[in-house]
Amino acid sequence: MQIGKMPTLLHAVIDASGLSRRKAFAAIRDGLVTVDRVTAQDPSSEYEGGVLRLDGRVIEAGAEPRTYLLLNKPPGFMTTMSDEMGRRTVLDLVPPELRSQGLHPVGRLDRDTSGLLLLTNDGDFTYALTHPKHEVEKEYWARLAAPADEAVFAALRRGVEIDGQVRRPLRIGRLRDPRFQVSVTIQEGRNRQVRRLFESAGARVTALRRMREGPLDLGSLPEGAVRRLTGEEVEGLRVLP
Ligand code: URA
Repeated sequence: MQIGKMPTLLHAVIDASGLSRRKAFAAIRDGLVTVDRVTAQDPSSEYEGGVLRLDGRVIEAGAEPRTYLLLNKPPGFMTTMSDEMGRRTVLDLVPPELRSQGLHPVGRLDRDTSGLLLLTNDGDFTYALTHPKHEVEKEYWARLAAPADEAVFAALRRGVEIDGQVRRPLRIGRLRDPRFQVSVTIQEGRNRQVRRLFESAGARVTALRRMREGPLDLGSLPEGAVRRLTGEEVEGLRVLP
């Protein structure tokens, strides 16, 4: 598309659908193309944005509203939007009216990990939060199979080996919560990072919950519940270094 000049509807349909010019033209002529749910008539009209659909299917999200959700994920749900083995996914916890918005999880939690998980349909937002260059701090609370002795803390503070590299949490601390004994803050988001840090330090995690991501706290949101982020919260996450 040219910058500074609106594309025609015909070009927008060709770009978004990959159809040939002839087929895109025919689709518009046959009334199969809508812009913001209004049937488009004229292939040569200017396309000024808006949700472009071909035969009911969104081919260009246009100015569709962005959605940002915070879920308190319970254990036992996959962090995907569909699962070929039919297991429960975080999409099952999203209110039905929001399920068709093209949401995806921002990063992931293991199936058995609970806590704060963001969902959005804003790819730039996800990129900003998960790119290794500017990954945000995440705080987890861990329950261990046996009370953590000083040797475990000392090993984590020194750093333990994961995938051939020495890694250490940004912070660790003891908790006085009856369910979780240790708080761990990390910046990277490697697969099963917290569980593997503990394993390498000689302890086994039996329950893990993400409590915080950057400035966002899980707060008192009940397990399994979802809430929208406020505009301020979204902006706060966007501007993280
Ligand atoms: N670290 C883990 O081990 N599991 C998670 O789900 C997240 C971080």
